[in-house]
Amino acid sequence: MQCHVDRSRNVSNLRIMKNYTDINDLSNVEDIVLEAINLKQSPYQFATLGKHKTLVMLFFNSSLRTRLSTEKAAKQLGMDVMILNIKDSWNLEFEDGSVMNLNTTEHIKEAAQVISQYADIIAIRAFPTLADKQKDESEYILGSFKKYASVPVISMESAMAHPLQALADAITIEELKTKDKPKVVLSWAPHPKALPQAVTNSFVKMMQRYNVNLIITHPKGYELDDKITGKTKIEYNQEVALKDADFVYVKNWSSYSEYGKILSHDTNWMMTKEKLGLAKFMHCLPVRRNVVVEDKVLDSDQSVVIQQATNRTFAAQVVLKKILENL
Ligand code: CP
Repeated sequence: MQCHVDRSRNVSNLRIMKNYTDINDLSNVEDIVLEAINLKQSPYQFATLGKHKTLVMLFFNSSLRTRLSTEKAAKQLGMDVMILNIKDSWNLEFEDGSVMNLNTTEHIKEAAQVISQYADIIAIRAFPTLADKQKDESEYILGSFKKYASVPVISMESAMAHPLQALADAITIEELKTKDKPKVVLSWAPHPKALPQAVTNSFVKMMQRYNVNLIITHPKGYELDDKITGKTKIEYNQEVALKDADFVYVKNWSSYSEYGKILSHDTNWMMTKEKLGLAKFMHCLPVRRNVVVEDKVLDSDQSVVIQQATNRTFAAQVVLKKILENL
């Protein structure tokens, strides 16, 4: 593993972190990446920081990596962890002033305050509907917890953002880059199901704040929210975009303009060894083999997906550490 990191840099100049629900909650992304890499080298150096503190993890949706890596991160800081799959709890109401005479049993106003009695930090996974853009963009689940909980809130992937994944991705690029400003390509891939834009939104926001040359490539109609992409270059020709890439991040997302729709099943957008060239292959996982990316890529040394998954632990750990330091 190559690593071009000056670990002697002062990493103490981070703004107080109260919540981590968006890349914008990071004051200095390069410093926090360096701090995560430092934690990776000695994961138990702050093993008592979280003593007698509890992380409650709430899952509205499935998870493999986020669940295990965040729990591992918390335990490496000495925290206790409690996990609640919301489907095993009461059906929550989020509407203010609603008459709760139908299927919802408990209002978020009570639920968030009650959970705060048991938690020092609450982490939440809540995916979008992909049917109601306005509702999804309001981040009503995460936002309600931020509003009514009395403890810090971490996103473990919300409707529109996956900031822990993006932090792990930045750590991975920092560890592997062989030049100061690598070329990073975010390339859309086909998928049989409509998927959120959360991973790509956060990846784009993170890369915009990192010293990389970022290009996004996708079929027409898959433009992400232009408030997020801003001036980032979009190249509709995948072959042109991939030229001389150092890192290729492959991900499916459903249309943002025709919200939640699948507009293309074009298998030509699948990542192949030939198209990848000499670049490193990145994906957040889980990934559908031979749909999103061919076996030859995932089974090659160019795939860094396991390293990305490893770094999920240290992304979560550095975020928990920053919040714990200010409790
Ligand atoms: N990448 C990621 O968030 O994985 P999980 O959905 O398994 O948590």
